[in-house]
Amino acid sequence: MYVLGVETSCDETSVSVTKDGKDVLSNVVLSQIDIHKAYGGVVPEIASREHIKGITFVFDQAIKEANITYEKIDLIAVTEGPGLIGSLLIGVNAAKVVSLNYNIPIIGVHHISGHIYASHIEEDMQFPLIALVVSGGHTELILMKEHFSFEKLGETQDDAVGEAYDKVARVLGLSYPGGPVVDKLARQGKPTYHFPRPMIDSNDFNFSFSGLKSHVINLNHNMKQRKEEINVENFCASFQEAVTDVLVTKTIKAKEQYKVKQIVVAGGVAANSGLRKKMKENITDIPVLFPKMKYCTDNAAMISIAGYHKYMKENQVDDLMLNGSSRLNLVEEK
Ligand code: KG4
Ligand code: ZN
Repeated sequence: MYVLGVETSCDETSVSVTKDGKDVLSNVVLSQIDIHKAYGGVVPEIASREHIKGITFVFDQAIKEANITYEKIDLIAVTEGPGLIGSLLIGVNAAKVVSLNYNIPIIGVHHISGHIYASHIEEDMQFPLIALVVSGGHTELILMKEHFSFEKLGETQDDAVGEAYDKVARVLGLSYPGGPVVDKLARQGKPTYHFPRPMIDSNDFNFSFSGLKSHVINLNHNMKQRKEEINVENFCASFQEAVTDVLVTKTIKAKEQYKVKQIVVAGGVAANSGLRKKMKENITDIPVLFPKMKYCTDNAAMISIAGYHKYMKENQVDDLMLNGSSRLNLVEEK
């Protein structure tokens, strides 16, 4: 079964063709990062315009690289939300045009389900599993008892981890997106500053990162006023140490309570070297799956794979009333 995936929820225009929910035949990603860099973050209006400019080329390229024709595609899977509404609408409408033109069924996919299924490309998921979702907009612990079944155990009460990384980078005068830059500097430093580990001992699976972010901003400000020199590498290493301590501790707690067979780490922050290392060092009894780097940040292959499994589970598709939705729940609350 050939599935065409489409992802335009933020600043990547991406189309992919996958086979049988596993093999990636093509995964074309047109990133807008260099354009948004000048503004220190994603500008929604510009993102929409760039998606419009690139979408036809990205569709054509994905079909060409997969060495396939539209007539052979069995299903179109498109990110319906959450994300920037203007951006989402371009992917959804482009997908609907192809669906209508070639008479291919279409299915809307939740962006986070895509991030989780990115791990299924390389290795098979085994259930039950815990997914730690860490991206620019999400920080959640999800329990999956079977394919395409999601129970939310906890989530951030304020900022997402990726968002905190990006803010800290901005305060330190580093470029956007901040996550990879802070990660790189952290590898060159030592955690010599003491930063809080918010909610690390709380009796639930929730997170909070706004306090840590404020602490970092205030410390930076106070040191500057005292004309003390900041060791940026050590500063980044200390922030990363605090964040990853919280994420790993909470994941282990969920692993023990739900006696799962696997941990899956998903989303842009899954690319973080400190998180990868600490997870692998501290969880040795069950496998910890991290997607390949290219499947960590937004891409259509993960949407295509998730769409395949959604279709297999629910055995139904959407119609042309399918629409983009900036806010969309993945699961019922637990
Ligand atoms: O999943 P993603 O591509 O987009 C969303 O759905 O949000 O995640 C983007 C986020 C950004 O905040 C970026 O700074 C962060 O992932 N990120 C990282 C790293 N690579 C990307 N954060 C920490 N360390 C990294 N290596
Ligand atoms: Zn994402």
